[in-house]
Amino acid sequence: MTSTKSKILALLEGNRGQALSGSDIAKKLHLSRSAVWKSIEELRKEGYDIQATTNKGYSLSESSDILSAEGLLLWAQNPTITRDKIHVFKSIGSTNQEAKKMAVGGAGQGTIVLAEEQTEGRGRLGRSFFSPMGTGVYMSIVLRPRGTAEEAALTTTAAAVAVCRALYKVLEIEAGIKWVNDIFVGERKVCGILTEAMSDIQTGVVETLILGIGINVTTEHFPEEIKNTAGSLLPAQCSVSRNRLAAAILDELFKLLPHLGSQELMDEYRARSFITGKWITVHRGDENYEAKALDIDSKGALIIEKTDGSRETLRSGEVTIRPRCS
Ligand code: BTN
Repeated sequence: MTSTKSKILALLEGNRGQALSGSDIAKKLHLSRSAVWKSIEELRKEGYDIQATTNKGYSLSESSDILSAEGLLLWAQNPTITRDKIHVFKSIGSTNQEAKKMAVGGAGQGTIVLAEEQTEGRGRLGRSFFSPMGTGVYMSIVLRPRGTAEEAALTTTAAAVAVCRALYKVLEIEAGIKWVNDIFVGERKVCGILTEAMSDIQTGVVETLILGIGINVTTEHFPEEIKNTAGSLLPAQCSVSRNRLAAAILDELFKLLPHLGSQELMDEYRARSFITGKWITVHRGDENYEAKALDIDSKGALIIEKTDGSRETLRSGEVTIRPRCS
């Protein structure tokens, strides 16, 4: 986006619903009125709902919800979230893939990739993540932890807590965590997290993490294979600022990252986790077995008790809740 358009968008985002006259915008931004008009037309073509009222001016409608760096920066409070680190795409294969490419090219800690649509959204265990246009938050963050694999796993734990906190702050939605990284509202999965690590082969140090978060905000018509388990935060007709939601997640995440593995963070993860105490099926490759979820340890691993009474600590994997077979 050109810097003129970006400045006008930031001004409109900051004054949503309020009309700003063309001459006021021009004066404030030291532009000609025709440059303002041209940029407004271009923004409209990009899908922004900008109303023009005679004698009053231009206003961005309250319901206009397009992901943008300008919109995100209006809400983000963490000072490390800056314009140059935010990359927004209309349509992309996968934000994780793009963030990885940027990281290989030298992108630093806190680089953010967002997309309105992913055509090859990736999930855990080689699955895909349904990411239709304009109805979700599909976001990846480049992190440079230079730490152990254990710390890397705890980043996912922190991200799950950050998403839950943000959902409550922005929408007053109480969400739960299904170990290890699925976010549920009621019985439905509304968010998935995929953390991909790039390590130094010689030292084993995790140099880079790509933290991918996908949220179904107003998504509907899920594919057959997930239609009974996936859900969205809000009905399709509801309007919500996805920029605000993304900003709140980033703020919470950056607040938590310095405290990975802390007692407070792990306690919050445990409190939000809804599988402890339940009978589950553990899925491991081709093997499935029944167990009881006992607790989550200080590293975010799941402690289970198998039907023969033996205990096991799962560091990764997939579990589903099930009624106990007698
Ligand atoms: C899962 O539920 O298995 C994890 C889903 C992770 C989806 C997000 S959307 C943003 C980022 N880009 C991707 O391709 N995947 C993650």
